[in-house]
Amino acid sequence: MQEIETFKKEYLKISDKIYIFDTTLRDGEQTPGVALTIDEKIQIATKLNNFGVDKIEVGFPASSKGEIESAKKIKSLGLDSTIVGLARTLKGDIDAILDADLDYVHTFIGTSQLHRDYKLKMDKQTVIQTAVGAVEYAKDHGLTVEFSAEDATRTEGDFLFEIYDEAVSAGADFLDIPDTLGILTPSLTKFLITDFKNHFKTPISVHFHNDFGLATANTLIAIENGANQAHVTVNGIGERTGNCSLEELVLSLKAAYNIDLGVDTTRLYSLSKLVGRLTGVKMPVNKPIVGDNAFAHESGIHVQGILNNSSTYEPISPEMVGHSRRIILGKHTGANAIKSKLKEYHIDLNDEQFNKVFSEIKSLGDSGKSINDDELVSLAINELVSARETPIVLKGLGLSSGNGVSPTATVRLEIYGVEKETASIGVGPIDAALNAIRDLIKGEIDVNLEEYNLEAVTGGTDALAEVFVISSDSQGNKSTGRSTNQDVVMASILAVLDSINKLLLIKNSNLI
Ligand code: KIV
Ligand code: ZN
Repeated sequence: MQEIETFKKEYLKISDKIYIFDTTLRDGEQTPGVALTIDEKIQIATKLNNFGVDKIEVGFPASSKGEIESAKKIKSLGLDSTIVGLARTLKGDIDAILDADLDYVHTFIGTSQLHRDYKLKMDKQTVIQTAVGAVEYAKDHGLTVEFSAEDATRTEGDFLFEIYDEAVSAGADFLDIPDTLGILTPSLTKFLITDFKNHFKTPISVHFHNDFGLATANTLIAIENGANQAHVTVNGIGERTGNCSLEELVLSLKAAYNIDLGVDTTRLYSLSKLVGRLTGVKMPVNKPIVGDNAFAHESGIHVQGILNNSSTYEPISPEMVGHSRRIILGKHTGANAIKSKLKEYHIDLNDEQFNKVFSEIKSLGDSGKSINDDELVSLAINELVSARETPIVLKGLGLSSGNGVSPTATVRLEIYGVEKETASIGVGPIDAALNAIRDLIKGEIDVNLEEYNLEAVTGGTDALAEVFVISSDSQGNKSTGRSTNQDVVMASILAVLDSINKLLLIKNSNLI
């Protein structure tokens, strides 16, 4: 069999320079329900620039004053990426590009019979004249022009070549082929791009939608066959089911073809998060490259492989895209994976203790839950704690508040067998009691309450309060504490003491 590397060298027609044209701020913003403020557009454009895309399509200036303003502001930042604006083939739209001080326009007109008859109500010759008029006008005003025949992939072949030929004669610098409805397949893409590359000298760009989940595959095939530029969006957002995704394209070019686009891939995950946060379009966990599960492993065989050598089950390292690896502990996890996780935290359980933790994880898994590292540490420490003496025991609690007096708590603790008592004030009784506890344990440990969750377990005035806390010490060790009580102050104090006791055990017995 022929080596894949030989095939790549001999049969693929990949161009020396592949331009990445990002349209997150234009097609991406056309995602139903998405609208970005000027400031948000600036944040995303800056990150795209730092990542290293060649071109950023920042919007459609003719559509509103705000769009002109944001395009102008982004242009004024002097970024390395070329700033592009979208325009219909109308003089007014090109004027809006000039008003925004841009020097690169992406201008388009619908060319398929459906677009001509039902949208534009123009015959073929009028469509050509309109396109040529706009390209010439833009060139006369010093713009670099990228021309798109919208719905190109449903346009009659002869007419498609005719209009692109005319656009080239009018001065177009880039010819973009939109697969507006995402109807291409990989083999059709190969046929189309081969035809274009044989006919045109002008650089060819592709703008592929993802209606059948093929946008990235089709874009790769286009590049394999000589396309010079790809339109992409961060997280693949865009009209309907979106566009070719930036992260998928860049990483598959790198991983499968060893093509380095000169971009900083380590910025991808945070770029994806920023776009997800600002657009409100969250990624599914199984989204390639940037999804939560892209580098997560649970099943015993996979975790074992990953622990021995991460390349066994990861095509690229999470660090390469600024993501991180997660070992999920659940019903598919093997004993070895859990042992190695505990080792990572320097927790040494005997066989009996380990078996209890292991079966607890399995039964949580059977009830549909997986656990994270903090929860594993907490389960393990619970086992250790139950085998040892509890360092701190609550011996007494008195509370007073009201009538203009600050809430005060008097707390008595037995700390390693010695009873100590103090009173403290706080913004409320729980805060006062926690201040008193902090005061009493000062010499033993410095504790920070990181998370406090209160839930009423049952209804009514005699409801049980369940408190769950996460505390940390100055070494960065973390522990959880939990308590259920009818008295919310008592539940809070016992939960905090539970977590402090675990931290003290960690500290004193070199557990961690
Ligand atoms: O999908 C499309 O056809 C477009 C055009 C504006 C190029 O986004
Ligand atoms: Zn589009």
